[in-house]
Amino acid sequence: MSGPNSEYDPVQVSGLSAEEVADLVELAKAAIGAATDLDELKAARLAHAGDRSPLALANREIGALPPQARKDAGQRLGQARAQVAQALSVRQATLEMEQEERILAEERVDMTLPVQRSSYGSRHPVTTGSELIADVFIAMGWEVAEGPVVEAEWLNFDALNLGPDHPARTMQDTFWVDPVEHAIVLRTHTSPVQARTMLTRTPPIYVVCPGRVFRTDEYDATHSPMFHQVEGLVVDRGITMAHLKGSLDHFATAMFGAGIDTRFRPSYFPFTEPSAEVDLRCFVCRGEEPAVATCRTCRGEGWIEWGGCGVVNPRVLVACGVDPEIYTGFAFGMGIDRTLMFRHGIADLRDLFDGDIRFSAAFGSEL
Ligand code: DAH
Repeated sequence: MSGPNSEYDPVQVSGLSAEEVADLVELAKAAIGAATDLDELKAARLAHAGDRSPLALANREIGALPPQARKDAGQRLGQARAQVAQALSVRQATLEMEQEERILAEERVDMTLPVQRSSYGSRHPVTTGSELIADVFIAMGWEVAEGPVVEAEWLNFDALNLGPDHPARTMQDTFWVDPVEHAIVLRTHTSPVQARTMLTRTPPIYVVCPGRVFRTDEYDATHSPMFHQVEGLVVDRGITMAHLKGSLDHFATAMFGAGIDTRFRPSYFPFTEPSAEVDLRCFVCRGEEPAVATCRTCRGEGWIEWGGCGVVNPRVLVACGVDPEIYTGFAFGMGIDRTLMFRHGIADLRDLFDGDIRFSAAFGSEL
């Protein structure tokens, strides 16, 4: 920058002449007016009002003028820069408004457009029901155990004391997986999970095993070739039938309410000895006179068949590597679908498997 110079003639410094300053202002106004959006205006601001703009550079020259010329040029440049600043702020306001209007127009949402009406569905009652059942046992400190639905014949039958010639094998109408020599079945019950659990864990064992099972049954209101069971297995020191009865009474009460307990009837299962059928106290008439006489739910019995149970047969413990001299156990198994049908008054088993979303939705939020 040049130093003070008393000989200096402002008229000869072209950047500071009145015409030149007026030209710069015009140039700036034209650029500002031509900016069509805020980005372009920013560029114009930089070019015509920025630190390196002609007007700013000219302003720096003022200091070098003799005192009499300094005031003149200072005023002229001050006015010029104010005019440019004013033009910038007017254009800025206009462009901001235009931008806002454009955004409002572009991002407009038509609240009257029809929404997509596809429904989201809900969790299936068998899923939520299985979880509800498992939770009853989890709350007592049991664990959930699972196994595959395509199962080894040995685990589905042999390990459970159902040898190759055992008559009870034919009671369970089995789906065999081709080729039959591979000895693989679709599990006919959840009991193989008992064997799997004993083979992989050491007692104490307290497990509940909900799952899908398969039998060559007709598809009607009370049968299905695919259905669900829940298995319970306890193996510990000193386990008796009394523990079994207490656990099942608790299960019944948790599912059907206070006062709904169970009774045992003598029965036979190869994997338990002794064995029993479990009946559920009729949750409609409660077996009480006079309602029981005309009760259609239990057909006047006061009790409803629920499942099978018993003390784990020592032969099963041995087959699964558990020492029957140290440990005893109990087991039970019942239909989940049947239990849910009782609990929710579902008359036809097929409703659970037809996949009609309107059916599932009614159970959607039950926990
Ligand atoms: N597995 C038997 C069935 O599907 C039900 C059953 C009965 C399971 C007695 C058990 C039990 O654990 O002890 O018919």
